[in-house]
Amino acid sequence: MSKPRVLSGIQPTNGSFHLGNYLGAVKQWVELQESHDAFYCVVDLHALTSAPDPKELRENTLVSVAQLLALGVDPEHCTLFVQSHVVAHNQLGWVMECLTGFGEASRMTQFKDKSQKVGNERIGVGVFTYPMLMAADILLYQADQVPVGEDQRQHIELTRDLATRFNSTYGKTFTLPEGFIVKEGAKIYDLQEPTAKMSKSAESLSGLIEILDTPEANAKKIKSAVTDTGREVRFDSTEKPGISNLLTIFSTLSGRSIAEIENDFVGKGYGDFKGAVAEVVVEYLRPVRTRTLELLDDPTHLNLILRTGAEKAGMVASKTLAEVYERIGLVARG
Ligand code: TYM
Repeated sequence: MSKPRVLSGIQPTNGSFHLGNYLGAVKQWVELQESHDAFYCVVDLHALTSAPDPKELRENTLVSVAQLLALGVDPEHCTLFVQSHVVAHNQLGWVMECLTGFGEASRMTQFKDKSQKVGNERIGVGVFTYPMLMAADILLYQADQVPVGEDQRQHIELTRDLATRFNSTYGKTFTLPEGFIVKEGAKIYDLQEPTAKMSKSAESLSGLIEILDTPEANAKKIKSAVTDTGREVRFDSTEKPGISNLLTIFSTLSGRSIAEIENDFVGKGYGDFKGAVAEVVVEYLRPVRTRTLELLDDPTHLNLILRTGAEKAGMVASKTLAEVYERIGLVARG
């Protein structure tokens, strides 16, 4: 029997990924590549919605690839590629746009938040059509599962709606994908503002743990994380959002249960606890940073991985696209 398929993507916007990206998504990518037929892409076209500097975008795309490899994504066990290398993503993206209602797209939370922030005159149309391109990413590969963080849940729902709509109008073509969203780690919070998600677009970087930051800088940020009133190290996301976030980080990186960790800190204060969290995070990320920097020294190797990935992805994607074009009535090129 063939393995179930997974697909996921990550934006190369900032060079370094943050801990939320890893715990919410990439950690699952690494686990699933063993048991699944996995396709993972760096979504450079999606990154264009934030108008990055061209030189930085190019660099950050390779930094993203190197980081994925350093975090354990293994091109021998998955197909790793860059989205813009497989043109079928744009082609199916357009078909998805034609299938989506204006109101439906307007209800996407990420679009609503961003357009409220910058206003209708300045928000790009790309931010509006972003979820349709994401639906195309997923549906092209007939993915069964999509490992992502909590913030992508609504986009996956839209993808399922579009797939269902297409299948019922034109005949069964797409697999209905499910979000693979873990219980612990699907939403990591900002260390300074533990009710907001950790995000690269946060106003201050002091609550963001970047995978490629120096061990010293990350240790300092964790030790200065906002804590809650009281002294007890106990998981309670309403009363103690700061401590609960640190407990989640500690538990997911160490593989120990939250109850065990709580137990270890009975009678100890927040200072001891934060010191221990800092150590776990720093020791976990130290080899990742070193390995990323080594990989970046050999761009030819990275490009070769990407070329192979694009070829494998392209074969799967063009087959789906041909079927879609056929079903919707486009005349095949003679
Ligand atoms: P992006 O690049 O913003 O984030 C990559 C992944 O990290 C997860 N994530 C988090 N998880 C837990 N806590 C957080 N604070 C946190 N912040 C981010 C995201 O949920 C995501 O899984 N639209 C996607 C990229 C994309 C995609 C796709 C994903 C494009 N096409 C197809 C899956 C399938 C995005 O912007 O992710």
